[in-house]
Formats: sequence, C-alpha cells, structure tokens
Amino acid sequence: MKRIVIFASGSGSNAENIISFFRDKPKVTVAAVLTNKKSAKVLERCDRLGVPAFYFNKSAFKDSDAVLHFLHGLNTDLIVLAGFLWKIPSNLIDAFPNKIINIHPALLPKYGGKGMYGDRVHQAIKENKEVETGITIHYVNENYDEGAIIFQAKTAVETSDDVDTIAQKVHQLEYEHFPKVIEKLLS
Ligand code: GAR
Repeated sequence: MKRIVIFASGSGSNAENIISFFRDKPKVTVAAVLTNKKSAKVLERCDRLGVPAFYFNKSAFKDSDAVLHFLHGLNTDLIVLAGFLWKIPSNLIDAFPNKIINIHPALLPKYGGKGMYGDRVHQAIKENKEVETGITIHYVNENYDEGAIIFQAKTAVETSDDVDTIAQKVHQLEYEHFPKVIEKLLS
C-alpha cells in the first residue's frame, strides 16, 4: 500500500477529491492531511471524511525537522501539495527527492512564482486577455513553481468568462486529472 500525505492551506476541494478517488482503491491510501492554517476548510472536510489531519506552524516547518520526522513516521511515499502556499524547505526536498508534487492553476512557466496562487492567477489570466489557461502538475524544488513538469491540461478562456468561471474551469481539470496522475506516479 502506497501512502500519500496531502498538504493544503485552504478549502481543500482537491484534497477531498483525491481522498474520494483513492477511498476504494486497494493500492494507495491518503495517510493524512497536513495544514499550516488552523482555520482552513480542509480540516472540516477531513473531519467529515474521517481522514487524520494535523496542523503545523511556520517555525516547526522551516526551522526544525519536526514535519520531516512526522512524515517519516507516517511512512510517506508521496507528498501532494494541493493548494499549499508555503515554500517547501530544503530538509523536505532533500529527504523526498521526486516525491513531492504540486498542482498549479495555470500553464507553467506562465503565471507562476511567489504570490501567484488561486484567484490571483485567474485574475491575471483575465486581465491579460489570455485565450487559454489550464493546470500544471510538477515536481517541487526549492523555487516556487519551477520543478520539472509532469502533466499539463488546457482549457479555453472566453472573453465573457469572469474570474469565477475561469476558476471553475481550472478546478474541473484539477478534479479530473490530479488523482489519475498521482495514481500513475505510484504505480
Ligand atoms: C487549486 O486551484 C490549486 O491549483 C491552487 O489552489 C487551489 C486550491 O483549491 N494552488 C495554487 O495556486 C498553488 N500556487 P482547493 O483548496 O479547493 O483544492
């Protein structure tokens, strides 16, 4: 059984989708969800779904090996960032080479980097009158959104689309593809 740990900072709709996808699969399980935000909606989702969820603060994450030890204790095979907004420290990158992946709500290398997350990305897509956007699933290195790309999928942006419409289109792509890409990586 391969064990995923999901990191999420916010709503956690991707986390829930991944948990649901693997619920009846024998080879992969979501061992836990970790968050850096005590008020994150993902914690309510985990409660409802019966998945263990844990909070850590910035100093535990950046200035100690506490999270690293915790992940080893969970026998983590793959770390999945699903709407997680802090940069991953080098102790984790070194301990989990090519075992940390992120989903970004745009077609990297465009619209990535510090401060580019969630609706901010969709707002920029709208302002720049892009005709397409999409998702990128990539390995995580020490720079925001710069690791090797594993998978991308595109969707058209219509001039009539507002930020919410773009966000919905991107979320649909995320829900459709992210669990399958994880499954493939672990097979
Ligand atoms: C997702 O769209 C994800 O791609 C994005 O945050 C959203 C989280 O939604 N991630 C980033 O912007 C990372 N730079 P969710 O909490 O409902 O899964």
